[in-house]
Amino acid sequence: MTPDFPLAIRLSHVSKVFGGVRALDDVAFDVREGEVHCLAGENGCGKSTLIKIITGVYTPEPGAEIEVFGEVVPRMTPDAARARGIAVIWQDLALFPEMSVAENIAFETLLGSVPRAVSHASVHKAAEAALARLGVSLDLEARLRTLPIAERQIVAIARALVQDARLIFMDEPTASLTQSETDALLDIVRNLSAKGVAIVFVSHRLQEVLDICERVTVVRDGRLVGVFPTEGMTPTRLTELMTGKTFDMSVMARDVSGARPVLEVRGLSRAGEFEDIDLTIRAGEVLGLTGLIGAGRTELGHALFGMARPDRGTIVIDGQERRLRSNRDAIAAGVAYVSEDRLALGLIQPQSIADNAVMAVLKRITGPTGRISGRAKSDLVGNWIRDLSVKIGRPEDPVSTL
Ligand SMILES: Nc1ncnc2c1ncn2[C@@H]1O[C@H](COP(=O)(O)OP(=O)(O)OP(=O)(O)O)[C@@H](O)[C@H]1O
Ligand SMILES: [Mg+2]
Repeated sequence: MTPDFPLAIRLSHVSKVFGGVRALDDVAFDVREGEVHCLAGENGCGKSTLIKIITGVYTPEPGAEIEVFGEVVPRMTPDAARARGIAVIWQDLALFPEMSVAENIAFETLLGSVPRAVSHASVHKAAEAALARLGVSLDLEARLRTLPIAERQIVAIARALVQDARLIFMDEPTASLTQSETDALLDIVRNLSAKGVAIVFVSHRLQEVLDICERVTVVRDGRLVGVFPTEGMTPTRLTELMTGKTFDMSVMARDVSGARPVLEVRGLSRAGEFEDIDLTIRAGEVLGLTGLIGAGRTELGHALFGMARPDRGTIVIDGQERRLRSNRDAIAAGVAYVSEDRLALGLIQPQSIADNAVMAVLKRITGPTGRISGRAKSDLVGNWIRDLSVKIGRPEDPVSTL
């Protein structure tokens, strides 16, 4: 614990309204230097909005107070936040795929606000120093897009260190990492906190939150539920605080051994990716498919969704053997695919929530004249939003607002 440490940040009376949605309502929040603090809450409760207010991306409603390292900041801007040592590692990392690792880490900072020449050597040196602080070595010349997500994550953290960050927000940093990559990231987080850097962690993996954080601030529907020490807290209790509901955690998977097989895969192989895969999924079943990075999980998923042709083997869907030549074939056969990289591959960010939702099923809402029926579309979208309890402003809002 770091009870005597000074506050890195203190906020009070923070509210934010978007159109009709009250995203935050009189929230208070504080983090001590060197603390690892969790910001917890259900999807849409306002976590990212709070981070955006602290970093000057959004202006809060009048009445908010923000104090950073002991100094009251009347009007926070992105530059003011950066100058005070606040950095954010966004959900989408916000890196440049075509630039090198070194450039992603150090270029922007070295460039400063005035355009001037930056030497290759100085970029290299700064990037190397930042990675050394993290105890990691990466190929500095590699294009960022060639790196796996876990290493891109490290690049984003290194960039924050080059900016001399003393308070780092990490929005869902482990969402797409494997267990061992997560462990490595958590080691980095502990290490930074031992050096006095304050870290605010947003994650939906509650056990991980309880393991790494000292305190947790819980927000529900834009309101502060409370600030709790993680010592003695359980994932069940934290879930109750986040949702305001009690849960029965003893629910077991249903026995589906007698149900009809929906998907049967036999001897499926694709050179260099996966070999001789057999599996059966029955109606109502949830099947886990696991393995290390590079084991071929994603590739197998692509093959089952018609996006990569297998060399050998059969795919039987609902008792009928299928040759999936495209994702169109797969969708027609009743297969859907939610990609690993939802921000880049799963959604068209600027399009509306409604358009994204119906994108794969346009046929179902198209009338005999080939025109999309607005009524059919809004009915379909409305049903799904209700059934899945998605918290949104309006279906017409860009999906990027979620
Ligand atoms: N730019 C925006 N315009 C309109 N509404 C917005 C905007 N940004 C966020 N919202 C709304 O504000 C609420 C809080 O959103 P926010 O993104 O802060 O939630 P979150 O806690 O970060 O959710 P998640 O866990 O899904 O990341 C949501 O209802 C969201 O739809
Ligand atoms: Mg968010």
